[in-house]
Amino acid sequence: MRIDGRRLIKNIEDLGKTGLDAQGRRSRTAASDADKAARDLVCMWMEETGMRIAVDKIGNIFGIWDSPDNKDEEPFMTGSHIDTVINAGKYDGCLGVLAGIEIVRTLKENGVKPVRPVVVAAFTNEEGVRYAPDMLGSLVYAGGLDAETALKIRGVDGSVLGDELKRIGYAGSGEPGFARPCAFIELHIEQGPILDQEGIQIGVVEDLQGISWFEVTIEGRQNHAGTTPTAMRIDAGLAASKVNVFLRDRCLLPGSRTVATVGTIAFEPNAVNVIPEKAVFTVDLRNPDEEALSAEEHALMDYLRELEKTDHVKVTVCRRSRFKPVLFDAGIVDMIEKGAADRSLSCRRITSGAGQDAQNLATVCPTAMIFVPSIGGISHNPQEYTRDEDVINGANVLLDVALLNVSAPE
Ligand code: GLV
Ligand code: MN
Ligand code: MN
Repeated sequence: MRIDGRRLIKNIEDLGKTGLDAQGRRSRTAASDADKAARDLVCMWMEETGMRIAVDKIGNIFGIWDSPDNKDEEPFMTGSHIDTVINAGKYDGCLGVLAGIEIVRTLKENGVKPVRPVVVAAFTNEEGVRYAPDMLGSLVYAGGLDAETALKIRGVDGSVLGDELKRIGYAGSGEPGFARPCAFIELHIEQGPILDQEGIQIGVVEDLQGISWFEVTIEGRQNHAGTTPTAMRIDAGLAASKVNVFLRDRCLLPGSRTVATVGTIAFEPNAVNVIPEKAVFTVDLRNPDEEALSAEEHALMDYLRELEKTDHVKVTVCRRSRFKPVLFDAGIVDMIEKGAADRSLSCRRITSGAGQDAQNLATVCPTAMIFVPSIGGISHNPQEYTRDEDVINGANVLLDVALLNVSAPE
């Protein structure tokens, strides 16, 4: 049995057309108009495939293929997300959702009668660009945060998630966690360089690194750029730059597996000839080891305290997101590895550097992921590209493991 590759690739292309702005940049942040357009398309495809749609309180969409014979069994679940970062590619998340729909079509076309329902999920706000924390929909689904609290989260644009979900028509009524699965398997692009560099077709994701996000505010003293002697400055912008360099130096320490990013920064008053009064920036810290990640967090906090003394600034820190590293289910990992081998695809075990909805699902059911190569390791970038043959290989492995999960034991 194999999926219809052309159909899957066409859906990826079509979904990728939603959320293009006037400059042709694709941005579909959570619960935006663009997200609504993408959700409508995905729901239409789910319905065309004969799935019924359920939406829960946090706006997660579930396409459910069940029958009177199997509706009381725990479902097999797959899926991912369709929200994007700003100026995004078209594969991140979308591949997992669209491959899920494609495997349901394939199973149906081949007359498979599953012993349990198959559910394809599109989780809300995986990227966390508009509302922090990231992986929010799956976090609420898995019971890691209550829906009422999550719906009140204010976004970077001042909007409230619950209001925005209502506005776009995706504030559902399903209780989070209502379709508790027997297993969850997510297909995703690697978003890193390993598979491409090594010429390997399938990544069997056995674990995922921890993620820590902070928002840091540094307050200095606004003053004239021309007249203020260097020794008299309290420059919030300079202090923020030092933090960025500090983080990079930590990452470069021998043996360190930490990656760190200052992805946003805003100065006030943000003028060419004014020493910044304030710098507000985000820090994204990641490490596959929990102890190492928390050591990095402590090192950063110590450095910020030090900076208050050396640079006479005031520093406040606000936590935005924190996820521990995750070990996926060994049984599902083996199943994926065998699935790849049975299709004569080269594979290797791999760690996910990106956050994933699967990490939250891993707290409620046996879970693992399938990766396919990202050319040049480029992602969160419109240049993100995965070859059609790799997309199809990944979806076929997903099909095989789904089939194993929905077939009667021999
Ligand atoms: C999600 O894409 C993340 O890893 O930030
Ligand atoms: Mn993703
Ligand atoms: Mn992403």
